[in-house]
Amino acid sequence: MYQPVASREVRYGDLDLWPTRLKTGFWAWLLHRITGLLMVFYLFLHIIVISSVLWGTGSFDAVMDVLKKPVFAAGEMLLVSAVIYHGLNGIRVILFDVGIGIKNQKALFWAAFALAVVGFFWALKVFWPLIFG
Ligand code: HEM
Repeated sequence: MYQPVASREVRYGDLDLWPTRLKTGFWAWLLHRITGLLMVFYLFLHIIVISSVLWGTGSFDAVMDVLKKPVFAAGEMLLVSAVIYHGLNGIRVILFDVGIGIKNQKALFWAAFALAVVGFFWALKVFWPLIFG
């Protein structure tokens, strides 16, 4: 049977969201926003890049040549981490919304963060030849 976990005040206190205290919950919240906006930015960029084919295959190839630069591979590694963190932390936030895991919010943040770091190194392995030849 569903039981409300706690009062609203207790729940917010447990999540450590208060910006001036700079605790784990706040950093989790901030990183969620940064990664969310990063993905929106990437999505726009992706649509623009793909649309370049409308100006002819020459334009598309020219854009693709620019995207071969190491800086874009580095950006994509960060994107892999951002997607993993945002997705997992999103599930963490949704669980809190239904009253699950609030007391373990720190551990859940570090689990999401650790998997995002693993994703970064996995992407580094994949992109290594593109960056360093
Ligand atoms: C597994 C996939 C995803 C899950 C589970 C997820 C979950 C969530 C949740 C729960 C929130 C609200 C957080 C809160 O109220 O504190 C949120 C916010 C947001 N998400 Fe996602 N999300 C996912 C994928 C994406 C993708 C693909 C994008 C962008 C292309 C995105 C962009 C955003 C943005 C911009 C916000 C608002 C951040 C803000 O309030 O400043 N999300 N997401």
